[in-house]
Amino acid sequence: QTPVIAIDGPTASGKGTVATLVAAHLGFHLLDSGALYRLAALASVHYDVPPDAPDELAKLVGDLHITFREGLAQLDGVDVSTEIRAEAIGNRASAIAVHAPVRAALVARQRAFRKEPGLVADGRDMGTVIFPDAGLKVFLTASVEARAARRHKQLIQKGFSANIDDLLRDLRERDERDSQRVAAPLKPAADAKLLDTSALSIDQAVEQVVRWYQA
Ligand code: CDP
Repeated sequence: QTPVIAIDGPTASGKGTVATLVAAHLGFHLLDSGALYRLAALASVHYDVPPDAPDELAKLVGDLHITFREGLAQLDGVDVSTEIRAEAIGNRASAIAVHAPVRAALVARQRAFRKEPGLVADGRDMGTVIFPDAGLKVFLTASVEARAARRHKQLIQKGFSANIDDLLRDLRERDERDSQRVAAPLKPAADAKLLDTSALSIDQAVEQVVRWYQA
């Protein structure tokens, strides 16, 4: 079986950055599953499908015309890499991700990323649902304050305006919704290794994951 490293964790825990660097280090493919949920959320805005209509959303998601290339995300042939990073789209992604039919409609698309020589998959349910046979499962955590500060920096860098207090409130709300939902709630797989990145540099976190993988 093609190797998979599953990296799961809450909003702004550093998963995306760590997963990208681990994939680059090992020469593996990368699946940013959150980007798929964000693309679905953006499509639901474009096509005017409300976030509380599970079956319509699932149909929309099944028909999505999306491509990922060299870190760029396209929806219907248009580059939306920056647009999907908006906080409003992240919140909408979290709202539509509660629906089991929406999640089911994304399973095959996610598994198709598993190709030689290997895959690093970043998300909420990579180790629990999508790749339960992953050879290494990591659950990244960080304090809510550390995560809000990281998200703030990220948004400013991308040219969005952001405010720490709003972000703290959003993060807590999103954590609550992601972990309380019935469909694939955010929780570490039974065999996941926990990594708290609050006091780690990115390089230290990447090194730890690579060391676990090579052990
Ligand atoms: O950047 P951030 O961690 O906030 O979010 P993301 O990874 O881009 O994912 C956006 C939203 O999609 C999350 O808040 C989750 O609710 C949802 N999601 C999910 O349910 N399952 C995944 N495998 C990935 C994302």
